[in-house]
Amino acid sequence: MLFAASVPAVLLALSATILYALAKVVYRLYLHPLASFPGPKLAAATFWYECYFDVFKAPGGQFIYEIDRLHSIYGPVIRCSPDELHVKDSEWFDVLFAGPGHVREKWHRANRANGSPGSVASTESYDLHRMRRAALNPFFSTKAVMELEQETRRKFDSLCDRLRDYAKDGRIVNLGGAFTAVTLDVISQYCFNECYDCVETPDFAPHWKMLMSALFDGAPFTKHFPRLAIALQSLPRSIALKMNPVLGPFFECQDRIYVQARQVWETERDAQATTKTKTIFQGIMRSNLPPEEKAVKRVCDEAFVLVVAGAETTARVLSVIMAHLLQDRELFDRLRKELSGVVRPDLPPSRDLEAIPLMKAVVQEGVRLAAPVTNRPILIAPKEDLKCHDCAIPRGTPISMTFRDVLFDPTIFPDPNAFKPDRWLEAEAQGKRLDRYLVSFSKGSRGCLGINLAYSEMYIGVAALVSRFDLKLYEFDQKRDLDTVRDYFIGLPSKESKGVRVKVAGRKT
Ligand code: HEM
Repeated sequence: MLFAASVPAVLLALSATILYALAKVVYRLYLHPLASFPGPKLAAATFWYECYFDVFKAPGGQFIYEIDRLHSIYGPVIRCSPDELHVKDSEWFDVLFAGPGHVREKWHRANRANGSPGSVASTESYDLHRMRRAALNPFFSTKAVMELEQETRRKFDSLCDRLRDYAKDGRIVNLGGAFTAVTLDVISQYCFNECYDCVETPDFAPHWKMLMSALFDGAPFTKHFPRLAIALQSLPRSIALKMNPVLGPFFECQDRIYVQARQVWETERDAQATTKTKTIFQGIMRSNLPPEEKAVKRVCDEAFVLVVAGAETTARVLSVIMAHLLQDRELFDRLRKELSGVVRPDLPPSRDLEAIPLMKAVVQEGVRLAAPVTNRPILIAPKEDLKCHDCAIPRGTPISMTFRDVLFDPTIFPDPNAFKPDRWLEAEAQGKRLDRYLVSFSKGSRGCLGINLAYSEMYIGVAALVSRFDLKLYEFDQKRDLDTVRDYFIGLPSKESKGVRVKVAGRKT
């Protein structure tokens, strides 16, 4: 009886849902402010189009490639999802990623893959972002990075000590794991004044590398099914761990950050700060941010994103640079020769390394080719109507661009898939500003917070390995182990990849 009565109600609810969905599709196709923009009707009608390429089409994270295909059909400005335009035009990058004087906000869907809503990276509003960023900027200025660089050099010295152990017993090193370990040590020391000691842990703390991989592996799912991802996160830990044992280090990292944040919060809350500001937590607590911005949960979100954003990106560029150098012996020897006057045997400050033209060119080319962030940022210009080609883009429209479109633009970087540091030296000699197009760190008010720290690590890391070791790639296949084929927020190689592995030998001089 009860069942019979509820059938019409269910049918009614179902019909209403279908009608609502149909009405939404009709609105998006014919009445939406972006209805006249070029692009496939299916992408304009539903977000499932994007979801299919990111989540369901193997090997996942394929929408960036689909967007590229759509540009080849529809031109430089396309409607890639119901509410969003995507632009492919290297000269227009500076318009969207504009600096001071241009208000840019992040669209809410752009932040979905990042599970830390309280972080600066996830902040939508322009004003709140400026406030949060102002509290962090002093930690990452050139001056601050230089002051702490001795510690960074010490971490890379420890990495070299470990590599000597590997050389002694002829073991193979996974360079990606080693670089993730050292960049995690640097960022944890830097932000929390407490090192995670991954370099000193056997096999370079592989559980951390697994955690990073698991976080990024989950990015497309989190992006398209954010509520489900939150529900999974709020399961009791014992159940979550049974479902996914990789979450162990994730919880460990969160707990550690929480304890540190809580301690600082308690000591700083009432007391007048007298000690030197040493950690990000103290920096935030002592800033002019309003009290709600100093809540423990918010501060933890900030800290967690710094750890994740700071480690894997830099490690990936280091792996890409080393893999290419090790495939080009002549280039490797040229660089080693140039370094010989500067690394003797202690590692010098990164600014001395940057002053070596070939060294700078190698790092620039690595940063370009690795292009570690594949996620397309989606920005809104709430106060400006923009123009791109013949298209007038109304203010408030979510607009995205893909860093790789600029970094691999063959009209700017001929033979874009090749590792050619000399292109930077030639451009310099001809007075060309090629660095204008080096957008791997994004630009403008939303550009990377850690750019100075990342460059310092990359100079020191490359100099240390090139000048101190003879390395040989082990069972390496560039297509399998290096080339980016998936957008999982950062670009990842094939799932079959075993990483960039090397045989290490102490240098024969
Ligand atoms: C080679 C290394 C790195 C690359 C290529 C890189 C790239 C980027 C890119 C492209 C963005 C913008 C993302 C977006 O708009 O969605 C970004 C933002 C950010 N990066 Fe990096 N990053 C690197 C290293 C670091 C390091 C070492 C840190 C450590 C603190 C860091 C912290 C951040 C933060 C906090 C943001 C958000 C900034 C904001 O929204 O104001 N990154 N990074």
